[in-house]
Amino acid sequence: MRIFSGIQPTGRKHLGNYMGAIRQYVEGQDRGEGIFCIVDLHATTVPYNPAALRTSVLDTTAMLLAAGLDPDRCVLFRQGDVPEHTELTWLLCAVTAHGDLNRMHQFKDKSARQRELVSAGLFLYPVLQAADVLAYRAHEVPVGADQRQHIELMRDIAIRFNERFGETLVVPEHRIPEVGARIMDLQEPERKMSTSGSSEQGTIYALDEPRAVVKKLRSAVTDSGRDVVRAPDKPGISNLIEVLAVIRGIDSGEVEREFDGVGYGPFKQAVGEAVAGYLAPLRERYGELRGDEAALEAVLARGSQQAAAIARETVADVRERMGVGPPRRSP
Ligand code: TYM
Repeated sequence: MRIFSGIQPTGRKHLGNYMGAIRQYVEGQDRGEGIFCIVDLHATTVPYNPAALRTSVLDTTAMLLAAGLDPDRCVLFRQGDVPEHTELTWLLCAVTAHGDLNRMHQFKDKSARQRELVSAGLFLYPVLQAADVLAYRAHEVPVGADQRQHIELMRDIAIRFNERFGETLVVPEHRIPEVGARIMDLQEPERKMSTSGSSEQGTIYALDEPRAVVKKLRSAVTDSGRDVVRAPDKPGISNLIEVLAVIRGIDSGEVEREFDGVGYGPFKQAVGEAVAGYLAPLRERYGELRGDEAALEAVLARGSQQAAAIARETVADVRERMGVGPPRRSP
């Protein structure tokens, strides 16, 4: 089974990225053939700084390695190194409905936030994402809950392509974790934790110092009650219960039972210490890896060669089916 996922090199990675996605990548290495991509081209769809983009790619590479991706057991590469992604994006545009792109929540949210330019890239973002996955004929895509709509779209694109041009592409399935698929902002627990648009206090960054982690959790917004239970009108406490459940590998009900009658203060302290302990090894390992940029580039270079070998085949098949370019010579 082939597993593919992508992650943006923008900003600092946070607890939501880690719980919703990165921990699934690491586990995916043992379940199948894992291919993981740092999507620098996606990062160009909103205003950005070119030098900072290069740096962020290396930050994200070090982060993924620190989390446990092993280049000997998976493929880790930079999207911009494999031009087949952009070519396939254009080819897939032929079977992508404009109306579907218009309905994408992420496009609506992000375009509303742009002050100067809503780029065409932002509109086409989900087609590039579809090309990322379909180029590898991946079966499974580990992501957080916010990517559900993008995965539905890429499935529709693959199905429409196969119907129109003949069986060529694999229709992928999403893999969204049962717990931790949508970690919420600590200060505004009705919103998901995110790099853009969240407050510093509401976001736990993967590289935050342990003391800062404990402090942010201690000041997490909760309601005026004192029972540690999940409820629709208790988004803050529900979120913290879920975070602790992920760390302990137990279900949320067990967390509720353990903290029955304890009150919010001690519960938030316990979650803070658990999160700090959870992230500490990641932070330490990141510190060891980030300095050696040549080594990080070498990992990406090797990964992009492995990735390109697969993507090239798919794009050649897609061109052939679509009648683009000269007929494919049999190998
Ligand atoms: P990105 O970089 O924004 O996020 C990376 C992953 O983190 C998950 N995530 C969360 N999970 C739980 N709680 C949260 N608060 C939270 N915030 C983010 C995301 O769901 C994601 O899995 N469009 C993608 C990148 C991408 C991609 C792909 C993904 C490009 N090509 C191909 C899968 C397959 C994105 O913006 O991820």
